[in-house]
Amino acid sequence: MTNKIHFVIAALALLAGGICANAQTVIDTRNTSLVIKAEQGRHPQILYYGARLQPGDAASVGLNGKVFDLYPARFDRTSEPDALSVEMPDGNVSADLRTESVKESAWDGGKDIEILCKDPLYPFFTVKIFLRSYTEENLIETWAAIHNAGKKPVILHRYDSGFLPIQEGDVWMTSLHGGWADECRVVSQPLVNGTREVSTHGGVRDNAVAHSEVMLSLDGKPQENTGRVIGAALEYGGNFEMRVVTLEGTHRFFAGISPADAWYTLAKGEEFVTPKLAYSWSDEGLGGVSRNFHRWGRKYRLAHGGQPNDILLNCWEGVYMDIQEPVMHKMAADVASIGGELFVIDDGWFGSEKYPRDTDIQGLGDWQLQKKKLPHGLQGMVDCCKDLGIKFGIWIEPEMVNTRSELYEKHPDWVLNAAGREPVPGRGGTQMVLDLCNPAVQDFVFGILDGVMKQAPGIAYVKWDCNNIMRSPGSPWLKNQNHLYIEYQRGLEKVLNRVREAYPDLIIQACASGGARVNWGTMPWFDEVWTSDNTDALQRINIQWGTSYFFPAEMMACHVSASPNHQTGRVIPLKYRIDVAMSGRLGFELQPAQMTEEEKDICRKAVTEYKKIRPVVQCGDIYRLVSPYDGKGLASLLYTNEDKSQAVFFWWRTGFFRNDHPARVPLAGLDPAKNYKVTELNKVEGEPVSALDGKTVSGAYLMASGFYFPEKDVYNGHNDWHSHVILLEAQ
Ligand code: DGJ
Repeated sequence: MTNKIHFVIAALALLAGGICANAQTVIDTRNTSLVIKAEQGRHPQILYYGARLQPGDAASVGLNGKVFDLYPARFDRTSEPDALSVEMPDGNVSADLRTESVKESAWDGGKDIEILCKDPLYPFFTVKIFLRSYTEENLIETWAAIHNAGKKPVILHRYDSGFLPIQEGDVWMTSLHGGWADECRVVSQPLVNGTREVSTHGGVRDNAVAHSEVMLSLDGKPQENTGRVIGAALEYGGNFEMRVVTLEGTHRFFAGISPADAWYTLAKGEEFVTPKLAYSWSDEGLGGVSRNFHRWGRKYRLAHGGQPNDILLNCWEGVYMDIQEPVMHKMAADVASIGGELFVIDDGWFGSEKYPRDTDIQGLGDWQLQKKKLPHGLQGMVDCCKDLGIKFGIWIEPEMVNTRSELYEKHPDWVLNAAGREPVPGRGGTQMVLDLCNPAVQDFVFGILDGVMKQAPGIAYVKWDCNNIMRSPGSPWLKNQNHLYIEYQRGLEKVLNRVREAYPDLIIQACASGGARVNWGTMPWFDEVWTSDNTDALQRINIQWGTSYFFPAEMMACHVSASPNHQTGRVIPLKYRIDVAMSGRLGFELQPAQMTEEEKDICRKAVTEYKKIRPVVQCGDIYRLVSPYDGKGLASLLYTNEDKSQAVFFWWRTGFFRNDHPARVPLAGLDPAKNYKVTELNKVEGEPVSALDGKTVSGAYLMASGFYFPEKDVYNGHNDWHSHVILLEAQ
């Protein structure tokens, strides 16, 4: 059907007062509007996304700029990139998505739109485009359901979740990159002509390298608290691709599953539903978008969002795999004695007689308890912790297997590896990924967690680790190896659904050699993440800063560890280490037996104070004030509660040079009309406190002038590692 005929149909419909009356749809959230146009027989279009429109504006927005398809498919445009690219059964590699119908409905938190599109030449091929708004959180989700009702397969070459055109000129993209122990490094770059891509290809938990969340600052160089910003997050844990194609002054943003080595064959009758793309607009800078995502994540995405997480001791950096029951009991008693709420045994507690998990080269897959390490079993630990008035948690790494394990000897076919090739192991030279495409393996993996929980029903917390990527892509189970990355993810999701069905109250931490699994696709089954294996407080400031762009403090596990630090060798005073860890979900990861009584007292006091500020820190609104990435020798941020009656201010010196005076830091996010009592927390003998400590000052003053901390006394011999945590309480 030609464009002309479509136009005539549309015009007739309009005359009849029918379908075209609703062609334009406005989706308002509290502060934003999205305007789309879906006329019968035409490509659905996006006319506007940004600040909330006034009534009547929507009719004109489409005229004021270039108009783009809402879900561009390969059809009749030259040099335009696409969200969807398909190969029809006859080999035709084009798709023409014409609106067939539009459904609109309300749900508790906003609006739902479903636009059904059909290809006139291939009427069996349909795409439903979905949009869901979250009114209070200023967030929109979009995704697509691609359906083949034909008799022969259709091959999807690209199948993005969504698309957004951005017509502002000086746009910068901020994305998060890194590696092991260096996660979430913030990278901001101006968008120039060409394509900028952020993607992963590791198949499993590859977010240490790149994140499926980006910020697009629309008013030039990104600012934390000013300027218009769109933030976008693909809710997917597998390989993803986000790209911005800049052509002729317009930036085209696409996000979806990475199609690399993943062409998808859509069988007859099959529907492929893409993951959701969530996006949010704010004119309060990067911070505004972060706050929207945090609120949305807490309310709608985290397994137990909005419920503050426990203060724990994890034994990993304290003893590594040298697990001995009396030592574990003592560690549990030590954390209880400083006010902690949970003790976690990490890696090393299991293994067969042949392959005990005493080193990382063996044992994964053989999930029997090592009796010689824990003679009274996991139940013994649950009981011990119960007696101490705390909870107990345990580490597992269920998706993985060592070639040195009885499991591998029995089921070499349960492991991912390209057919006919030598195994390509990861950690320890023996670690392989189990084939979660295979339903029998899914049962086995679920059975690991289920078995642990049945052994000791009182377990309150599980650290679910995942320390490998797919090094050699190939599933012995799958017929079509192009589906490997997608089927792995589907298999994992099936297992996690079973886990949540069976154990809805369990608190589960997503760990992946640290933060390699931090994304909004994975989090719905989890409560928190192990932010990084790097527990060095200085580098943690940078890592936690980047993580906070999209993820709330509630899910950011931040542990005080020993000094010198095990990852960097850096020696950092306890107060500074605590002051950094207190800005997320506070925990400890050391051997308390190696601490002095004075150090334990400092921790005890910090835990008591943290309990007071925990709701604001974990579930409050973040205002990032001075970025560690700006090279100012300091970093600072603040959390407020919803009614701004309480706030907690963090300030860390990140570099020290003589006579290099740290700048005054004006606050943000307070109520200017409220008067706040200033209370310095974590006071340690000999360390400076704010000159305003104990005073009451207005929010207006604090936001205009802020805190100033003079250079530390250089004569006392410890002039660096200067930090402050300050509680502000409205009077
Ligand atoms: C990697 C994790 O990130 C660490 O915290 C620890 O759990 C080890 N795995 C255990 O092998």
